[in-house]
Amino acid sequence: MRTQVAIIGAGPSGLLLGQLLHKHGIDNVILEARTGEYVLGRVRAGVVEKGTVDMLDEAGVGARLHREGLVHDGTEIAFDGKRHRIDFAELTGKTVVVYGQTEITRDLMDGRAATGGKTIYEAADVSLHDFDGSSPKVRYKKDGKEHELACDFIAGCDGYHGASRRSVPEKSIKTFERVYPFGWMGLLSETPPVSPELIYIHSPRGFALCSMRSNTRSRYYVQCDAGDKTEQWSDERFWNELRARLDEKGRDELVTGPSIEKTIAPLRSFVAEPMRFGRMFLAGDAAHIVPPTGAKGMNLAVSDVHYLSRAFIEYYKEKSSAGIDHYSAKALARVWKAVRFSWWMTSMLHKFPETGEFGEKIQIAELEYLFSSKSAATALAENYVGLPY
Ligand code: FAD
Ligand code: PHB
Repeated sequence: MRTQVAIIGAGPSGLLLGQLLHKHGIDNVILEARTGEYVLGRVRAGVVEKGTVDMLDEAGVGARLHREGLVHDGTEIAFDGKRHRIDFAELTGKTVVVYGQTEITRDLMDGRAATGGKTIYEAADVSLHDFDGSSPKVRYKKDGKEHELACDFIAGCDGYHGASRRSVPEKSIKTFERVYPFGWMGLLSETPPVSPELIYIHSPRGFALCSMRSNTRSRYYVQCDAGDKTEQWSDERFWNELRARLDEKGRDELVTGPSIEKTIAPLRSFVAEPMRFGRMFLAGDAAHIVPPTGAKGMNLAVSDVHYLSRAFIEYYKEKSSAGIDHYSAKALARVWKAVRFSWWMTSMLHKFPETGEFGEKIQIAELEYLFSSKSAATALAENYVGLPY
């Protein structure tokens, strides 16, 4: 089998890249280790930047997001029993859309099915070969049989645990990492959200986040210990802990109900440099991870795909390799700014046992500065709605 671009991974980055390349007549095949249902079962991102919305529109899959997504022109930050609003629209002229990653993935899968793009699900033992030369190949097993896919380029869109980044020789890659000493326990429930906007909560018991998927479906998170298991978090324990971290109004208005889904996410910042290795390119979580506090992970995956899709289009349409040559530097410049913002939001809002009373005082000063300075609030808002591509 032969294609122009072999894409590893059918998460948001792989599916979006496939769709954009198809629009420009560039042949591609996606290899995904799991089933489509499994990919759709992962409840993850909820906040979508305007740049991401534009990319989904460009790929022709934005219609449902425009119909069903909730436009948010601000967010609340709760601290010391009070809530403070950051007005994105007023401070930046921009807004975000609350629309689940699951729905984006579904729209991209439907888009791919409609255009007849080839996705091979349950591709096992995917391995990448010869990407330092001119004829890269990807090998995989499907239904017990070995297959080889020859291609011009490989796009490694296979997430943090994928095969692409791991196939790069150690001497050719440098990684930067910070692991946080806590995780997020997330719960999804068929209950109306506690408030029309998201609430990021700094409390003496730790961080909490009130988010949503629709006007009838809520997504909540509480900071938990790094080693916690979901079995230790009964619905009752979760709701009690969330209530204890909320302000009085939130406690009164919170509607609880049985969980539909519960997961624990570890928190980490991670960047691999560069993002190009000969004819292989990393995009999305395969190259970088941010803690979810800034709502940046999926949006960064999409901005990588913005640069990468244009690089391939330039290569095939204009016979220029300038886009390909500049991909890594361009993508990383935006990645590091999102890594900084996500680290800063995480540092300001979570309970860090090891930083002691000094650390707590600094957090309080940071929050008070944020609520008293329009410049500080604007800095948060312009990063949250998404820096320009
Ligand atoms: P993935 O979604 O990880 O997709 C990679 C795909 O590759 C997967 O389908 C995987 O099965 C497949 N794969 C893996 N290994 C192989 C292999 N060897 N061979 C073939 N296929 C393979 N981001 C935001 O922007 N906003 C938010 O509000 C937000 N909230 C989040 C909340 C939580 C709790 C979590 C955990 C994440 C959140 N994120 C958020 C981050 C976001 O979910 C990720 O950044 C995003 O999924 C990255 O997309 P991706 O396509 O690069 O990788
Ligand atoms: C979510 O709705 O899942 C969500 C929202 C904002 C974040 C992280 C996750 O910062």
